[in-house]
Amino acid sequence: MIKLKTVRGEALMRIKEHPILKFDYQNEIHFTYNNQAMIGYEGDTIAAALYDNGIRHFSNSVVHDRPRGLYCAIGNCGSCYMRVNGVDNVKTCMTLLEENMVVESEVSVASND
Ligand code: FES
Repeated sequence: MIKLKTVRGEALMRIKEHPILKFDYQNEIHFTYNNQAMIGYEGDTIAAALYDNGIRHFSNSVVHDRPRGLYCAIGNCGSCYMRVNGVDNVKTCMTLLEENMVVESEVSVASND
């Protein structure tokens, strides 16, 4: 069995208890980020799983080469663009994580430079 190396180790960024909402972190989803094996959970967006693994820097902007990451988290800004399964400019804040996804940083073409 392959032992996965994760950045997060423990799920530090997860809400585990809430007075109204219930969270079910039973079904792990395995994916890679820049060739690093990581784990998320069923129902995570790619961005949420990356955050949980301690990843905040998703890509760099084209014009100023500034770091990009989660910003609006509702699909409006494009700051979270990444290459997913070989497809560029995927909004990771709006895309659900799937088993064996390959997530990579890219040079972002988002407009808010
Ligand atoms: S963070 Fe704004 S579109 Fe994803």
